[in-house]
Amino acid sequence: MAAVLPLADLRQQGRPGTWLNTIIKGDCVAALEALPDHSVDAIFADPPYNLQLGGTLHRPDQSLVDAVDDEWDQFASFQAYDAFTRAWLLACRRVLKPNGTIWVIGSYHNIFRVGAMLQDLNFWLLNDIVWRKTNPMPNFKGRRFQNAHETMIWASRDAKAKSYTFNYDALKASNDDVQMRSDWLFPICSGGERLKGEDGKKVHPTQKPEALLARVIMASTRPGDVILDPFFGTGTTGAVAKRLGRNFVGIEREQDYIEAASARIAAVEPLGKAELTVMTGKKAEPRVAFNTLVESGLVKPGQVLTDAKRRWSAIIRADGTLAAGGEAGSIHRLGAKVQGLDACNGWTFWHYEDGKALKPIDELRAVVRNGLASID
Ligand SMILES: C[S@@+](CC[C@H](N)C(=O)[O-])C[C@H]1O[C@@H](n2cnc3c(N)ncnc32)[C@H](O)[C@@H]1O
Repeated sequence: MAAVLPLADLRQQGRPGTWLNTIIKGDCVAALEALPDHSVDAIFADPPYNLQLGGTLHRPDQSLVDAVDDEWDQFASFQAYDAFTRAWLLACRRVLKPNGTIWVIGSYHNIFRVGAMLQDLNFWLLNDIVWRKTNPMPNFKGRRFQNAHETMIWASRDAKAKSYTFNYDALKASNDDVQMRSDWLFPICSGGERLKGEDGKKVHPTQKPEALLARVIMASTRPGDVILDPFFGTGTTGAVAKRLGRNFVGIEREQDYIEAASARIAAVEPLGKAELTVMTGKKAEPRVAFNTLVESGLVKPGQVLTDAKRRWSAIIRADGTLAAGGEAGSIHRLGAKVQGLDACNGWTFWHYEDGKALKPIDELRAVVRNGLASID
């Protein structure tokens, strides 16, 4: 079983890390307040929807619809729901790292209120993702459109946070080299994935599909990151996080859900390191200045660089700049200057002699980057 941590123990222990990969049993606002500042990389929150269902709902054949009418989804008024939303979002913001991001999923009943609160609390909205359900429930009364999607808001902790994790290149490569769009198509959780009790009934009315969480986690976290879910339910976030080599911390009040989540997570086998390596593109590679090549002896002051067809040449100076025909500047500026262009990528334009072959200095930059990678 995955470890369950009573809130009182979390408060007493106070040691960093004791709560990693546990389910904290208690109210999410109180539990969040007992966690350290800036301690999690990402948050996935699936809060109560505040569905405000009036009475029971039947299908045309008179069978009862298994609707979300649980006590945890009941709020006395919109004001009460807003006060609760404000409290848990504020508490989440404190535990989120400055470059962390938060996902909140909801339906038309609550997502607009949550979105406004996120903005009021200075989160910065990055996207709203539409999860389009391939197999949504019909609208039995035929009085409205079929409600076929939920919305996920993705936000950074601060407007100025530029270095939040977004695995753009991996997402694009996994999507047949096409940018991943903000409308995602997944079935609702059903079949063998849906947790059922001994009576054959669903353990939880709103268990989310693992595929949805997998995309969220793959998009916005890295292996080893910590993902917090303050409304853990059956532990979908924890199960997927463990499989994908991330750490989780879940918070849930209801004992039955905690037991189901704990057993579910214990049965998950994490993927190996090789399967979990995240593909990155040029933008994610460490910045290497041309001067680093000079300093590391990969090129030498006085050495001549040329373009691929030897039409232009320049001399490397000891300060990491290039000089040609009375002009001097960076590899990019001088590359542009000799060609009479506004801009030039000096890394691919300038070449060095390697035996009889001419090779772009970008290959030497790759040597430096490989060296940096092996230090990690
Ligand atoms: C929409 S469900 C989350 C379902 C979950 N994503 C899953 O896949 O199973 C919301 C959950 O939040 C829990 N919850 C509601 N209010 C809470 C609170 N104040 N503190 C902790 N948990 C709470 C409910 O018991 C419920 O399990």
